[in-house]
Amino acid sequence: MLHNARVLVGISGGIAAYKSAHLVRLLKKAGAEVRVVMTQGAQAFIQPLTLQALSGNPVATDLLDPAAEAGMGHIELARWPTHIVLAPATANLIARLNAGMADELLPTLILATNKPVFIAPAMNQQMWQAPVTQANIKNLQAMYPSWQWLGPDAGEQACGEVGAGRMLEPEAIVEALQPAQKLAGKHLLITSGPTREALDPVRFISNHSSGKMGNALASAALRLGAKVTMITGPGHLPVPAGVQQVAITSALNMLQAVQDKLASCDWFIGCAAVADYRPAEVSEQKLKKGAEDELSLQLVKNPDIIATVGQHPQRPSLVVGFAAESEALLQYGEQKLKRKGLDWIVCNDISQPGIAMNADDNAVTIIGHSSQKVLSQASKQKIGQQIIDFLIEQTL
Ligand code: C5P
Repeated sequence: MLHNARVLVGISGGIAAYKSAHLVRLLKKAGAEVRVVMTQGAQAFIQPLTLQALSGNPVATDLLDPAAEAGMGHIELARWPTHIVLAPATANLIARLNAGMADELLPTLILATNKPVFIAPAMNQQMWQAPVTQANIKNLQAMYPSWQWLGPDAGEQACGEVGAGRMLEPEAIVEALQPAQKLAGKHLLITSGPTREALDPVRFISNHSSGKMGNALASAALRLGAKVTMITGPGHLPVPAGVQQVAITSALNMLQAVQDKLASCDWFIGCAAVADYRPAEVSEQKLKKGAEDELSLQLVKNPDIIATVGQHPQRPSLVVGFAAESEALLQYGEQKLKRKGLDWIVCNDISQPGIAMNADDNAVTIIGHSSQKVLSQASKQKIGQQIIDFLIEQTL
């Protein structure tokens, strides 16, 4: 139900615009307040008056119309919604969003908003496949990881061609705005990002982990109604709104923070790239350069946080680890699954270019004690959703 929702429907100029009328009707039926913004192109396909009658609100079309700006101007429109749905989103609109253009009301208010954006692309299948369209989408996914891409569907198109590019049906779009709260009442504890192991007051050992995968898992779980706590290492990206964050520095700090939260958590996901070793001694003073050409550091092993969780008397009902491997992915993954007492391990191949650590994309194999699931290359946002959906399917 969308009873307290204020949905702004942005319509751009494609034949699928005729379906937006039905979308507005369904949103109203679900209890949402609806406002519509149309591009010039959209008005060639469907009349603003139709959308005004269905939404019960004036339709906004102009950026530079003094009368409209005196009513609800573009900045107010950007602040007003709880959800923004771009349906259909044409190749042109997507390109304009990627270029940050403010040449019309609709792209301007997307530039000016921080509200959740849902995009339902619709275009000819060749336009959808065009490398420039795909590059625009990839870029937008990297810049706006919280935006949700809905579809497109594949099938017969208005132009007579067959392929991917049909707008998702309005019913499916409405469903995406109000996902079933399958994780309501569950508390997820997620470790994410790198740890930093000090050598002296200014130097440390660390790694390239960004926290993108952890954030994607957290966003997916939040959307399904979970309470999410993230224990994050230094330099971690900002966590999604709604996450309770505990920021730590070293592996020892992370272990302590995990132990403090363990009793209250239902699922534990260890996504952090924890340093395996830390310097045996941390110098209180900055280490000085000596006369020697070589310097040896003595390192000691850090505790294995997830293995501690996996064998803990207060073990959560589900414990999931990650493994980044450059060879024998599945074999090492299976060994870690058993050694660390996990239910599932998500393995990614770090020897493949463009995926895993610090990249925007990932491709993983989820290994359990009796089954496996391959998730082919996609944005971390999508992989995060697929992992959470898979865990729900297997567990609840
Ligand atoms: O053994 P490896 O570091 O490859 O295992 C990776 C998994 O173990 C990840 O889930 C990671 O978060 C976790 N881990 C941990 N504590 C460590 C090392 C790894 O929790 N000290």
